[in-house]
Amino acid sequence: METDIKVWTEKINELNKGKEKKYYILTMGCQLNENDSEKIAGMLKEAGYVKTERIEEADIIIFNTCCVRENAEERLFGKLGEVKKYKEEKGTIIAIGGCMMQEKHITQKLKESYKFVDIVFGTHTLENFPKDLYYALKENKKIEDILDIDGVVYEGVPVYREDKIKASITIMNGCNNFCTYCIVPYVRGRERSRNPQDIINEAEDLAKQGYKEITLLGQNVNSYLVYQKQKGEDVNFKVLVNGKEKQVNSFATLLKALDEIEGIERIRFVSPHPKDFTDDVIDAIKDSKHVCKLIHLPLQSGSTKVLKEMNRKYTKEDYLNLAKKIKEKIPEVTFSTDIIVGFPGETEQDFEDTLDVVKKVNFEQVFMFIYSRRVGTVADKMENQIPENIKHKRFNRLKELVEKQIEVQNKEYVGKYVDVLVEGESKNNKDILTGRTESNKVVNFEGSRDLIGKVIKLKIVSEHMWYLKGIYDKM
Ligand code: SAH
Ligand code: SF4
Ligand code: F3S
Repeated sequence: METDIKVWTEKINELNKGKEKKYYILTMGCQLNENDSEKIAGMLKEAGYVKTERIEEADIIIFNTCCVRENAEERLFGKLGEVKKYKEEKGTIIAIGGCMMQEKHITQKLKESYKFVDIVFGTHTLENFPKDLYYALKENKKIEDILDIDGVVYEGVPVYREDKIKASITIMNGCNNFCTYCIVPYVRGRERSRNPQDIINEAEDLAKQGYKEITLLGQNVNSYLVYQKQKGEDVNFKVLVNGKEKQVNSFATLLKALDEIEGIERIRFVSPHPKDFTDDVIDAIKDSKHVCKLIHLPLQSGSTKVLKEMNRKYTKEDYLNLAKKIKEKIPEVTFSTDIIVGFPGETEQDFEDTLDVVKKVNFEQVFMFIYSRRVGTVADKMENQIPENIKHKRFNRLKELVEKQIEVQNKEYVGKYVDVLVEGESKNNKDILTGRTESNKVVNFEGSRDLIGKVIKLKIVSEHMWYLKGIYDKM
């Protein structure tokens, strides 16, 4: 579906004629949320706005919210308290969007206690943003633009990316899994996959602009097209990539098609679900030239009992067997994961099972979370909630194990040559360049700026907890 974004951005340009307008966006969520912010920025650019890092000088402030864990709420309401003065002093437009806006108790609270907010928009109505802004500006109206039903897939929304080397592409939206702890299926709706040709066109366009790495995004990225298939839709797409005709009917075939694009050196994807990690996907990664051999495989828990309560649809053994199978087919593979500690009913033994999987798989990176109750989810109603102090203790034990493993892994890099995509200058030191290995380790080194955007071989000379140090000896 195409949008009429142009019509509304032109109207805003007309309204603001002769005045320089600035926007400030705070992105509070995951990479999908980030990509949505890039779309909001893209639409605002077309409407004549420029970005500012200084919130006090913005004409419009946008908070793009997340609600996956509870601290997000405190953060948003804290921020709203801070920006109220800008509204009062100079009439700054305040807009809030994203996942949290799909929660009724939040929008209710906003209506009651934060009346100064101008625009509230949900996850299914992003492309209406220019229209909403136009009416907020012209008629000084309070706008609430939230759909309860699943949105449709919109194409043609402009995207403004600040990074010029790495880019994200959302390939599907929504989630059908209903893990019992998770709010995402309630705020993002059912799975909707984009047409593969639109994805390929976006990737080819990025390659033309000089991008070297793309990350495919979806709440459940490897069930790309699966729901359409289940509903009986025809998902046999003939696509054109790099001038060649290819068939795309699954996540694996999409990976294969994207692998053909010239100029894209690295392809990553997040987040896949272990239950959909089919053999054709493993083979596609193995046979590809550009798909990174780092696989993010969210574990959540290592206990079969907890996994069942979480509705994850795999056991500890299934997970370990999957990791083993991938490793057998792709020996150089590394893994990263997400883990939740303190899910209701998690016993000491269950937690030990999680530690056991961590030891066995030896992840390169672990995103660790303390279980957070979410209103409306099944797990929130479970009676056997774990006390905060136990959750924190387990979290620290897991962290300790992970950090020890990373230290050992980092030592193994020392003395080796690794391929690094050079991303730019280091944030803290302009004389140092920084990049990443295929396994997503940060490598800092000295070198000339013309290496930025290239994949080069670096020799690792020392390791530090969160980065490696390399030298460029042009080997
Ligand atoms: N769709 C992705 C990511 C979802 S959110 C996936 O399935 O992997 C990212 C991570 O947040 C999840 O993997 C999970 O580890 C964590 N998470 C989700 N809900 C949570 C909750 N209620 N409490 C703590 N962590 C949670
Ligand atoms: Fe949440 Fe589970 Fe869906 Fe991931 S797969 S978004 S954790 S419900
Ligand atoms: Fe948060 Fe929504 Fe992403 S709840 S994690 S921003 S999908």
